[in-house]
Amino acid sequence: MWHGFTQMAAYADNRPVMVERAEGRELIDVDGRRYLDAISSLWVNTLGHRVPELDRALRDQLDRVSHSTLLGHGNTAVVELAEALAPVVPVDDARFLFASDGAAAVEQALKVAFQYWWNRGERGRDRYLVLGDAYHGDTVGSLSLGDGGFGTDLFDPLRFPGTVRTPGYRHPGWLEQALAALAERAGSLAAVVLEPVVQGAAGMYVARPPDVAALVSAAQRAGVLVICDEVATGFGRTGAMFASQLGGVRPDIMCIGKGLAGGYLPISATVASGPVAAAFEGDDLGERTLYHGHSFGGNALAAAVALRHLSLFEEWKVLDHVSARAEQLGRLLDARVVGHPAVGEVRRCGLMVGVELAPPRPGLRWGRRVCAAAVEAGVLLRPLGDVVVLMPILTSTAEEIDRMVGALAIALDTVHP
Ligand SMILES: Cc1ncc(COP(=O)(O)O)c(C=O)c1O
Repeated sequence: MWHGFTQMAAYADNRPVMVERAEGRELIDVDGRRYLDAISSLWVNTLGHRVPELDRALRDQLDRVSHSTLLGHGNTAVVELAEALAPVVPVDDARFLFASDGAAAVEQALKVAFQYWWNRGERGRDRYLVLGDAYHGDTVGSLSLGDGGFGTDLFDPLRFPGTVRTPGYRHPGWLEQALAALAERAGSLAAVVLEPVVQGAAGMYVARPPDVAALVSAAQRAGVLVICDEVATGFGRTGAMFASQLGGVRPDIMCIGKGLAGGYLPISATVASGPVAAAFEGDDLGERTLYHGHSFGGNALAAAVALRHLSLFEEWKVLDHVSARAEQLGRLLDARVVGHPAVGEVRRCGLMVGVELAPPRPGLRWGRRVCAAAVEAGVLLRPLGDVVVLMPILTSTAEEIDRMVGALAIALDTVHP
């Protein structure tokens, strides 16, 4: 094995959890120990593990077909998913280009935006307005839209040069600076790319939804495409189905992934508006065609699970549950974590939480130590540097939310009693 974002020489010493099975919101390791999945298996799981309805949807699809290519041909499972998703996503007359990972959805989005202008005969629109602290994935295109950090600076020579970067949400004047850059560069921009409302991987920096809406509407007024990367924020995490909806935003292109199939299987999509897709219509085999596609884009098993997942959101009134649990989580964090001497700041939007630790000096690896202590206490957490991320599964019970915050509070005491 070679694990992502993991130093393999130290892997065994870091006592990794070896998952063998799961039940509800708990992962169970090879020794039978249980861990509450407080990071939703890296932000992908929405309704829990081994949800009978999702398991059944997967088994039923297995009896039909697991996968057939979407390059040129269709598959009913994927068509049904697109039809069900279209009225749910905040994109006008939505068209779905399916892939497997979030990074691939972003890669597709940036190419669609680039070719959109080319197809319309507008040359010189090859820049992307992007934000500081942004994270859009690890492929070279998505890495280029993202900011540095996460140990990726050595790849700087590989990043494409066509980005105009203004400060991220943590800076009070981020909106004004983005608006100024937009006004100055509008004619050369293919798109503005942003993580609506929450910059997740940066450490959960939260913007005011009206500020996000102000940037989006300024870009759209200036005729620049807007790409909203909802890979992390989509499917209920922020309290809305999509974070774009918190500010009433309708992007021209949207990227979704992670929770699309409830965290069961890898499926993502680039969602283009009807007008964007229309720019690609032309002669068969002609140059207006989008020459991009992945072998497993639109996997039928994943699509069948995603379709059932979407209907469960309605049936179970998941967003109402998220709102109640988010409110409870906020209260508990205020009571037990905010003001703890080990904590600098707590940032939250819905069920996305970043607890910024305040180590007295660098190099103490507090993030790592706090999470290790929480794991010891049976709650699986993973830090982003010295930010401890809490991302409960959307169906977590009140008792489970309580357990998570309790374990975090105890873990904080281990670095600063
Ligand atoms: C906003 C955002 N975009 C893209 C990605 C990349 O998704 P994936 O890891 O599925 O490639 C992530 C992953 O965390 C993300 O948070």
